[in-house]
Amino acid sequence: MAGLTMRESNQHYAVFGNPIAHSRSPQIHQAFAEQKSQTVDYQRIEAPLDGFAETVEKFFSDGGRGANVTVPFKEQAFALCDVLTERAQHAKAVNTLWKKDGKLHGDNTDGVGLVTDIRQNFGWQLADKRILILGAGGAVRGVLAPLIAQTPAEIVIANRTISRAEKLVEDFSGAGISLFANTLDNIHGQFDVIINAISAGLHGDMPPLPHTVLAQDCACYDMVYSATGSTPFIEWARQHNAVADGDGLGMLVEQAAEAFSIWHGWRPATQTVIHAMRSGA
Ligand code: ATR
Repeated sequence: MAGLTMRESNQHYAVFGNPIAHSRSPQIHQAFAEQKSQTVDYQRIEAPLDGFAETVEKFFSDGGRGANVTVPFKEQAFALCDVLTERAQHAKAVNTLWKKDGKLHGDNTDGVGLVTDIRQNFGWQLADKRILILGAGGAVRGVLAPLIAQTPAEIVIANRTISRAEKLVEDFSGAGISLFANTLDNIHGQFDVIINAISAGLHGDMPPLPHTVLAQDCACYDMVYSATGSTPFIEWARQHNAVADGDGLGMLVEQAAEAFSIWHGWRPATQTVIHAMRSGA
């Protein structure tokens, strides 16, 4: 407990999801705390599908200091909050909760996690680039505002169900960049960066894409976390000689670092944690 005051040692944190047994968040938050020779009490909590609000309420009334929220509760967490950050308002989903002055605060750190992983860990630029996003679900809504803030030349959102892509374009238009919706089988032009957010990619159901969408040195990033370090999308990109990286792990660690800094008031280093986890530590 070196480095912790008595008050801090009583603080506990958690990640809520259903299922949640697979979550690596406790390991990530512990690795961050160790950077200051601290420990952190961070648990996985499986909330019942019909009992998220009650589970969160009990956690905070029992002295919980902060919580992360994952599938399928991010929209419910958004609805529960008394105070929302601007990026959580854009995302309409919350992955980070904390109590302050008796009020439940919510943020969404997914988008900043994605952008930090792409820019700082991989060194890819987004400004003035043509970006293709595959998918238009909650994960895409969560990251669009921070991606737009990078001032790309344009973003095309391609989705099986075009109405979802169109809704995102409508909600995020007016942010000063060109934003278009399309179906997956009708993508035109070439892109400098392609980001996959089709969750089916994890199970090998990647929809067919023409390799003509890849500009020279196109950078391909998969937001879908993969325990094996690769995904069907990444395999496809490599087969076509694209620069392909990102298996969701870097984004996971970066969004956790943002949440950690909100709760603890200092920002942990991330690269060593990503490397340790990727090498199985
Ligand atoms: P998430 O939080 O991961 O975004 P979601 O909101 O359920 O979850 O969205 C899943 C995304 O994967 C959607 O873009 C979905 O396409 P639809 O909007 O058409 O449902 C996409 N998706 C899932 N399975 C797919 C498949 N087999 N082929 C193409 N797209 C798929």
